[in-house]
Amino acid sequence: MTDTANSYTGPERVFSGVQPTGNLHLGNYLGALRKFVLLQDSHDCIFSVVDLHAITMPQEPGALKENTRQIAAAFLAAGLDPDKAIIFAQSSSPAHMELCWYFNCVARMGWLERMTQFKEKAGKDKERASVGLFDYPVLQAADILVYKATHVPVGEDQKQHLELSRDIAEKFNREYDAPGFFPQPEPLIKGPGARIMSLKDGTKKMSKSDPSDLSRINLTDDADTMARKIKKAKTDPEPLPASMNELSDRPEARNLVGIYAALNGCEDQDVLNEYGGQGFGAFKPALSELVVESLAPITNRFNEWLADPAAIDAVLEKGGERARAIAAPVISDVRDIMGFWKKG
Ligand code: TYM
Repeated sequence: MTDTANSYTGPERVFSGVQPTGNLHLGNYLGALRKFVLLQDSHDCIFSVVDLHAITMPQEPGALKENTRQIAAAFLAAGLDPDKAIIFAQSSSPAHMELCWYFNCVARMGWLERMTQFKEKAGKDKERASVGLFDYPVLQAADILVYKATHVPVGEDQKQHLELSRDIAEKFNREYDAPGFFPQPEPLIKGPGARIMSLKDGTKKMSKSDPSDLSRINLTDDADTMARKIKKAKTDPEPLPASMNELSDRPEARNLVGIYAALNGCEDQDVLNEYGGQGFGAFKPALSELVVESLAPITNRFNEWLADPAAIDAVLEKGGERARAIAAPVISDVRDIMGFWKKG
């Protein structure tokens, strides 16, 4: 029995998740949150604070709950509307874990061994990594497919995990003779901001786990801090060129142009049309102004939400209920398809 990408005929649905593992940064905003906000008007959307993924690395129990609220607050501050999109904590919808187990028996060791994120996060001593860290991408597939999500807005670093989700969906449908049961989720990656790089090294992605805070703009930074980080961002002595081809071996300059274009809603080339021939002494202040102007309203709303944890909890609680209601019939069908016993 073959299963093709097109055999799923159910409705379109968007799912994505963000880990509560520290401050969100400009990369998370441009690669993920901003796309979420754009999608909520046209699609059925589910956005999760993926706390079960967070515990694949050590977490302080006391801090986890607070970090979960913080990411929910960032979703709301970025412009997600809880009356439109479902916003919830992953652990409040246990169906993710149940489907993850079923998928553990579908996914192959070899598939997971190829995952570059595991290799990066486990480091040299793989024997000491948690089994959960190895299994991370299978839980990610379960997150998406337990809602039969068809579209997944993410940054470029998640491409390989999304391919794995597609492989798992395809193998499940084929092995259990259930063509079209699970969709083949489409990653929504393209567009400006899919890969924002470190301000200190244009060859490394901007990351929550970079030890240098100067490498990233946090959504919690105040205006002065943002401006200072841009001022200190690594560049080179050359002025900006007239065309993007000339930036191919200048990763830091390319990154700053990319950030400007993403925030301004224009093409990289448009930025060069305006700033080509000028040095960073002129470009950096313009970029600072744009970053501050774009992020300050989000930072303000973020702080307002954080001051009202009960309101955040109410959003998460309602979101959890809605998420569980969508997952329940999917899990029930999976159990029937796999042949688990039930009274009857
Ligand atoms: P996380 O929490 O690491 O990152 C959240 C989102 O931010 C994007 N991102 C970036 N985009 C552009 N430039 C960057 N420098 C940058 N850094 C991070 C990530 O691509 C992501 O979209 N595995 C996911 C969480 C997850 C998930 C899911 C996502 C769990 N289950 C199901 C989608 C669907 C992650 O690590 O996100």
